[in-house]
Amino acid sequence: MKKKHSPSFSGRLAVLLLVAGGLLVSGLVTAPASADNYPPIGPLAEHQAAKASLVEMGKRLFFDQRISGDGAINCATCHDPAKGFGDGVPLSKAYPGTKHFRNAPTLINSAFKAGFADVGWGWSGYMGANMNDVMRDQITETMIMNMDMRIMHERMKQDAVYVAMCQENFGGECSSGKARKALVAFVESLVSIDAPFDTGNLSDQARRGRELFEGKARCIECHNGAYFSDGVPHNTGVPENMEIFTDPMRHLTYRSIIHTHGVPKMGIWRRDVGYFEVSKNYGDVGKFVTPTLRELNYTAPYMHNGMFATLAEVVDFYDQGGGYDDPLAEELQPLGLTAEERGNLVEFLKSLSSVTPVTVEPLKVPQAYKPIENWLEVTN
Ligand code: HEC
Ligand code: HEC
Repeated sequence: MKKKHSPSFSGRLAVLLLVAGGLLVSGLVTAPASADNYPPIGPLAEHQAAKASLVEMGKRLFFDQRISGDGAINCATCHDPAKGFGDGVPLSKAYPGTKHFRNAPTLINSAFKAGFADVGWGWSGYMGANMNDVMRDQITETMIMNMDMRIMHERMKQDAVYVAMCQENFGGECSSGKARKALVAFVESLVSIDAPFDTGNLSDQARRGRELFEGKARCIECHNGAYFSDGVPHNTGVPENMEIFTDPMRHLTYRSIIHTHGVPKMGIWRRDVGYFEVSKNYGDVGKFVTPTLRELNYTAPYMHNGMFATLAEVVDFYDQGGGYDDPLAEELQPLGLTAEERGNLVEFLKSLSSVTPVTVEPLKVPQAYKPIENWLEVTN
């Protein structure tokens, strides 16, 4: 896949306006990566204010264990508000009895990804390009919530709170489609608040780090735009997390996903094939969609497989020109940074995180059924 530049500020703003009120501003303008390509996070926050009641409904679903098959987990099991809406471990948990093979990504600022996720959601882009579809898949996927949409529909209809919420937001009875819309609204409400980068309060060190980010270190080639991502896959050569192959449960979920996505020769791979899962083009093996760099202070460990525990490790990795693979992204070259420069780059990355953590108070949603206790200790 050829590298593509992200839409410029006006392009993104057009997308936001469209979402907000049907104002059609046509033509996504493309522009080369530059410092002007980081619009502030403000306009989105304003756009969110309109639909507070829908956000509330989505929040209740997000914390409701009844939308998982046996009532054992909810979205927050893996997208924990106390852990930057990730789960803080290298490879994600999964539905009781299974384990996942990728890191649980943050959901903060997903609304910005929604504007350009034409490659698709998920680390390798295999989750489709529409956030509403991602919600459907997260709910029904056996390794995630393992839920049947009709049962979810039924459970919502039996709950007076949801009945009232569906009436208020949609003027009708509950359905899985309405639940998905509400979940999207909740996820889109999670937006950076006061990152020093946005408020203009960069320390001198972070300021010098920014110069490196945009200059000598070439990070901006891929990490640009409001979401700090060009939205396309690249091969940076992150080392494999061999637990995917040594742990039978992770191995099983991995094989099952590449099998259902029609990956050729699905039995031979001893690596995460990445975007190849989508394109089936051998040149794309090992490519992953550039992730956001916002809120990293809350979302360690890093990369699609959690192989780096700290931002200093990530910067060392790039300083060495990335990992070992062929073809490696051509933007990656040994950088020859001094210890001071590496430190400055880390400080700049830290300045992209809100000082006030982006979080919500977890909701306790009552449920009559009591799932098996301690399943996480048993299976994960
Ligand atoms: C069992 C753990 C788990 C649960 C439960 C879970 N997720 Fe996820 N979620 C993940 C993992 C892991 C990924 C990344 C998958 C990949 O890239 O292969 C992901 C990806 C996503 C993404 C795409 C993010 C991006 O930047 O591409 C969204 C959005 C999302 N989840 C929302 C939800 C919502 C909403 C729920 C509840 C309905 C939910 N998830 C439940 C583990 C989980
Ligand atoms: C060729 C494009 C490209 C360039 C250049 C690049 N990155 Fe990345 N970055 C990526 C991709 C792709 C990933 C995800 C890789 C993976 O998970 O395997 C990533 C992941 C990261 C992560 C981990 C984010 C997370 O949530 O796990 C950080 C931090 C990061 N990059 C910082 C930087 C810095 C700092 C630079 C400059 C020194 C840089 N990147 C240069 C494409 C790039």
